Amino acid sequence: MSVVEIVDHPLIQHKISLLRDRNTGTKEFRDLVSEIAMLLCYEATRDLPTEEVEVETPVALARTKVLAGRKLALVPILRAGLGMVDGMLSLIPAAKVGHIGMYRNEETLQPVEYYCKLPNDINEREVFVLDPMLATGGSASDAIGQIKARGAKHIKFIGLIAAPEGLKALHEAHPDVDIYVAALDERLNENGYIIPGLGDAGDRIFGTK
Ligand code: PRP
Ligand code: URA
Repeated sequence: MSVVEIVDHPLIQHKISLLRDRNTGTKEFRDLVSEIAMLLCYEATRDLPTEEVEVETPVALARTKVLAGRKLALVPILRAGLGMVDGMLSLIPAAKVGHIGMYRNEETLQPVEYYCKLPNDINEREVFVLDPMLATGGSASDAIGQIKARGAKHIKFIGLIAAPEGLKALHEAHPDVDIYVAALDERLNENGYIIPGLGDAGDRIFGTK
């Protein structure tokens, strides 16, 4: 059974509220995206396997646990997913990073792929696909389809805000993929924007509007 989790920790809710505010500027927005990604990473890595080791403390021998060395990869969906990479890497610094470029055709809302570069051993890695916005779900579903086609078998999606339509579409397209998001909003508007959402995530991260 895959996981669909709205990670509504108070710190995340607080930061998401700041993120939604139209008066939040580019630098603060970028910092918040990174901080929320770090908090989501904590939750999405909860099931990583561990193994027991012995460590000498200054006073005794401790039987304790370390990560069992599963290989990890991050794949941000360009552009906006890039904003989540640093926050994730701050907790899992050894992860390799691939990139997949997708944009939505503004009229049809259909995703268009324009770039894909993944670690060669993606089939051996646990892959975290990153995108702040899950609107229709088209971009995330297509990106994950491409990543699977290149051999990946263990994939989790991490996002900040989802519309019910997008969550359902992604779960139906990829029932094996665990989904972690920080907020589930009301709906999509006629232009495919999440309501209330936060506007265009890429533009707000990169200051392009
Ligand atoms: C945004 C967002 C997602 C996509 C979500 O990207 O970052 O990738 O829209 O919409 P969907 O769920 O309906 O596919 P956008 O197309 O604006 O590209 P950008 O990040 O390059 O600005
Ligand atoms: N992409 C965004 O950046 N925001 C939305 O609300 C929907 C898609």
